Amino acid sequence: WLNLERDLLQNLQEYAEKLEEKIDIINDSVKEYKEEIAEANEDPELYLSNPINSFRLIRHMHQDWVSWQIYMEKPVAEEQVAKIESLLQGRHIKIEFQRAAEDVEILTKFYDLKPQELVAKDEGKSPLHLSPLDCYHLGLDRYETADYQGAAKWLGVAAKNFTLSKYSELYEMIGVPRWQMYRDYGRALRQLDRPEVYDAYQKANELSPHNVHLMEELRMFELLTLRDPMEPIPDEIETPTKMQEMCRGNFSPEPGHLFCEYITVNPFLDFAPLRIEVLVDELFAFLYLGSVYESEIEHLKDAFERCSPVDTFVLDEGITGCSISDGYSRVTRRLKERIQGMMVLDKGSDRSYIVQYASVKPFQVYKLFRNATKFPELNSEGFEEIEGTAMVFLNDESLGGGITISDYKMLTQPKKGNVLITFDEIAFETTICPNLEGSGL
Ligand SMILES: *[C@@H]1O[C@H](CO)[C@@H](O)[C@H](O)[C@H]1NC(C)=O
Ligand SMILES: *[C@@H]1O[C@H](CO)[C@@H](O)[C@H](O)[C@H]1NC(C)=O
Ligand SMILES: *[C@@H]1O[C@H](CO)[C@@H](O)[C@H](O)[C@H]1NC(C)=O
Repeated sequence: WLNLERDLLQNLQEYAEKLEEKIDIINDSVKEYKEEIAEANEDPELYLSNPINSFRLIRHMHQDWVSWQIYMEKPVAEEQVAKIESLLQGRHIKIEFQRAAEDVEILTKFYDLKPQELVAKDEGKSPLHLSPLDCYHLGLDRYETADYQGAAKWLGVAAKNFTLSKYSELYEMIGVPRWQMYRDYGRALRQLDRPEVYDAYQKANELSPHNVHLMEELRMFELLTLRDPMEPIPDEIETPTKMQEMCRGNFSPEPGHLFCEYITVNPFLDFAPLRIEVLVDELFAFLYLGSVYESEIEHLKDAFERCSPVDTFVLDEGITGCSISDGYSRVTRRLKERIQGMMVLDKGSDRSYIVQYASVKPFQVYKLFRNATKFPELNSEGFEEIEGTAMVFLNDESLGGGITISDYKMLTQPKKGNVLITFDEIAFETTICPNLEGSGL
């Protein structure tokens, strides 16, 4: 999509250049003609008494202005105009748009992100910004799926906060004028039988005073409601689940406590003081802070990049992985030994799994493993035998993407080099919240 956007911009620039060429030709000619007229104006009689001069003037009138008219009417840069269509052809943009809109709907609901807050975010900098025009089209998309409450929510913000965008003047020309946003907001309100519909139409009418269709539409609606008044349909209030509350960070997590410990089970740990944060009491879930080196992380990322097709797997939409045997390299052997030491276990799985995820829905990663047909050894019985799990974060996640065990009010944000360790059945409740930016690893 980015490449396509680049091509489209290049094309628009070429169009501007073609326009500029035309303007230059016109402007230069105007200048020359004016110079000639200036000369003639010095002494018009003398000028015209010269038959050659008068011939030139008449010929110019007779022929050149008609040519100018033809030239002025000639479309500019038809090639560029046609190219837009050919660039967009076969791209299934409508389907992609609907899918992307769906993702925004899911995520904004999950994290309870309000349209009004999203439009107010910094247009150039915030990763959570939506423009009024974006909101408008999200609203139309909702309207199409008969979700009028969602439609009213997005369309209302588009119309009311229209001027927040520095591009709002452009919307009048390419995009949607404000009156139309108010009208469509009004239409959504009408579906909900809300009295605010009059205000919305009123606003639309003020912005487009001579629009007869608008008045007609409002009059029809007034007639209908007078004859058959309806109770307004109230907003459905969704109560967030415990997990949503956790992922949003609304719950204050149980305060963890930090300590520092030498664990003497292997030569590495003998000498390494490790910082540990207890996330769930009785050591059901705890976090080793910064206990995997940057170089080791790079090594694992590299292993993931080069993953062979045999070892690659897909757990769910947007969640892919690579299975790596402990014998893969010295680094993986060393890490296995270290993590096993951290967990104070004698035996560990002989494989690790690197999982990359960018999911708009929360998921319980260990349960996905149990369900995956690719790992029969983890199905049912094998799974029950697992005493604990360790999750090494290879990426930071700051926007969404928290790791939660909601029943225990545990929430931790992935941070490169941290290792999350969970024991017993609580391990399998570990849920990864949807990420809003980037992907988790
Ligand atoms: C047209 O030419 C005049 C001078 O002849 C110049 O001042 C003006 O900027 C030019 N306009 C454009 C659009 O190039
Ligand atoms: C958006 O519009 C609402 C309603 O008019 C207004 O209360 C709010 O302040 C606006 N938001 C911003 C950031 O201007
Ligand atoms: C695992 O599979 C079962 C049965 O197919 C399904 O009900 C369950 O939702 C799946 N669990 C996950 C986490 O996908």
